[in-house]
Amino acid sequence: MFQRFRRTRTNPHLRRLVRQTGVSVDDFIYPLFARPGKGIKDEVPSMPGVFQMSIDEIVKECFVLKQLGIFCIILFGIPDVKDSVGSDALSQNGIIAQTIKAIKDTHPDMFVITDLCFCEYTDHGHCGIIDHVHETVDNDATLEISSAQALVHAKAGADMIAPSGMMDGIIASLRKTLDDNGYENLPIMSYSTKFASGYYGPFRDVAESTPSFGDRSSYQMDPANRREAIAESVADETQGADILMVKPALAYLDIIRDVKQNISLPLAVYNVSGEYAMLKLAGKHNLIDYERVVMETMTGFKRAGADIIISYHAKEVAEILQRNKD
Ligand code: PBG
Ligand code: ZN
Repeated sequence: MFQRFRRTRTNPHLRRLVRQTGVSVDDFIYPLFARPGKGIKDEVPSMPGVFQMSIDEIVKECFVLKQLGIFCIILFGIPDVKDSVGSDALSQNGIIAQTIKAIKDTHPDMFVITDLCFCEYTDHGHCGIIDHVHETVDNDATLEISSAQALVHAKAGADMIAPSGMMDGIIASLRKTLDDNGYENLPIMSYSTKFASGYYGPFRDVAESTPSFGDRSSYQMDPANRREAIAESVADETQGADILMVKPALAYLDIIRDVKQNISLPLAVYNVSGEYAMLKLAGKHNLIDYERVVMETMTGFKRAGADIIISYHAKEVAEILQRNKD
């Protein structure tokens, strides 16, 4: 006697017909790292397949992405010169502003999201201005320079701004600045529930943003706190965010589900650098069927409640999906 569910599992067409979760190329945002120079495409040792690129190379890369059906990117800037307040991030001639303009010139059809933070631009590697008395980030001083940074991104032509520094009150503060300056239609995707995580290790290699002292535990979340994780995203929804986020993804599938059930906005997850590096390395050593595990992982994010996946695997996923179509 067949069990009830077995009857719908034997035929591949019927299996697809009853499938409850789908992964589509439309779900993805692909991260890109921009640095000054020309003709630079340096692979990150801890993240095979991920590169620091000069602006000309990024513009070329966008042609490849569009071919794959990927139109949404999130940009990180890595300036040559860093200082205590991250001045490069506040300049219309800085790396990020130049990159946005160059992409938009050649690819007006790309949707350009900018990561808004200071850790890639400061010499101390923290996500804002340092309060030397308390040896942490000065929240309110950082809100002020974050508003200036948001206007730099907006003026350069960014399509969406994604504050990732976990400063209190940043969504309300950015929303007001954008509205007051004529950018009331520019959406904000908040890194609303972001944990202080060891999984960011390889990213700090590529973004050259490891803190020179202390860690980010005074502003990022304790991985042990579930109720606080929900409250952080709910707070950003109330403050006026347009899209919320849980980050990292893999060790936080329960939080993805919990946040989803407590908000009505779209939810993104960030499948972070350490998660990518683990699969890459396991694949390289033939310990896993790499493509199968990648797709299983992406399906897991969607099943948990993610609407959007930010992932270094995005190009590979697009290729796999294209291949499976024909
Ligand atoms: C910057 C930022 C980080 C990531 C995205 N934006 C790193 C951090 O907080 O240390 C992590 C991305 C990744 O690990 O892939 N605030
Ligand atoms: Zn940061």
